[in-house]
Amino acid sequence: MKNIRKIALIAGATGVVGRNLLRQLIADPDWSVICVSRRKPDIEGNFRHISVDLLNPADIREKLGSLNEVTHIFYAAYIEKPRWSDMVAPNMAMLVNLLDVIEPHAPDLVHINIMHGTKWYGSHLGPFKTPAKESDPGRIPPNFYHDQQAFIEERQVGKTWTWSTARPHSICGFAIGNPMNLVLVLAVYATISKALGLPLRHPGSEANASALVNVTDSGLLSRACVWMSTDPGAANEPFNITNGDIFRWIDMWPAIADYFGMEAGPAQKIDLVNTMADQGQQWKSLAQKHDLVPIPYEQLVVWDYGNRVFTPEFDIISSTTKARQYGFSEFQDSQEMFLRQFDELRQNRIIP
Ligand SMILES: NC(=O)c1ccc[n+]([C@@H]2O[C@H](COP(=O)([O-])OP(=O)(O)OC[C@H]3O[C@@H](n4cnc5c(N)ncnc54)[C@H](OP(=O)(O)O)[C@@H]3O)[C@@H](O)[C@H]2O)c1
Repeated sequence: MKNIRKIALIAGATGVVGRNLLRQLIADPDWSVICVSRRKPDIEGNFRHISVDLLNPADIREKLGSLNEVTHIFYAAYIEKPRWSDMVAPNMAMLVNLLDVIEPHAPDLVHINIMHGTKWYGSHLGPFKTPAKESDPGRIPPNFYHDQQAFIEERQVGKTWTWSTARPHSICGFAIGNPMNLVLVLAVYATISKALGLPLRHPGSEANASALVNVTDSGLLSRACVWMSTDPGAANEPFNITNGDIFRWIDMWPAIADYFGMEAGPAQKIDLVNTMADQGQQWKSLAQKHDLVPIPYEQLVVWDYGNRVFTPEFDIISSTTKARQYGFSEFQDSQEMFLRQFDELRQNRIIP
């Protein structure tokens, strides 16, 4: 293979996926990094950020039209909508708009990696076969992951570049103001419960607390994406990527309560959106008292995502055997990951 310097284009650089991939690549001397999103990522380091609206083809042509040096595209842009069916059009448009401008003018393009997830298997619709394998059939559409997958496979025919897709679940990593952020849901829920003198109650049903689940550390996910984008043996394949362990919330809960210096209460199902909506003043007082970064409460946590994590009463497990067979063998203890990431929130003065 031609020996070329690796130049990454990360789409969605301010998200929980993209921000952590950016952090990983700028620390690696093998990579030069260009990243795109509307906001600038809050990261120090040597990278070029271009603010662009991926829904606007003219904006992309104007700002990215002269980029011809990209070797690897990491696509992690994402638009959340209340209905799954409403997500198809914008999420397809952003990917197509970006590739329409970059791909024809990038003669050294080697690989396009696209971020997907366990919803590929219909985890948002109800129980599914577990552990889910990459070869399992998907569920009834609409599902923008399936549309993006069909698009990239078709686009790759006759090209020298290859693609890969990653299917993580509940990605845990440092990011502020993004819709799906489990670590912030847990940390802010615990902090407010403690301030109210309550035990840390698991906010789902007993069946949710005892179902088996898996999660994905954003650092591990970044390394997996770099692996699948650079190992020719992983080309043109999807890979489930999780920490490699499974757990029940009922067993994880005491460790989380202990971290925050609290008693673990029994499971008590609540609607986090309604229950937590009125805690803005409480958070403001905590932020002042502990000199926290003044992030508006409404932007700190999307409680609906908490509801989505603590509602399913079925196992959510993906098999990671395929990634291991193809060469990615990293794993992560999920309890250690949660505690480390709470530490990171503390160090950054996001929580007391
Ligand atoms: N988070 C999870 O727990 C999780 C779990 C499994 C799978 N996934 C999948 O991972 C992928 C990435 O998710 P994420 O959680 O990282 O999303 P995210 O935190 O919401 O980040 C989305 C990124 O897309 C960018 N973006 C959105 N609209 C844009 C636009 N019009 N133009 C340019 N950039 C735009 C955002 O930047 P700006 O707002 O600054 O433009 C941001 O950088 C998605 O496919 C998601 O389904 C996520």
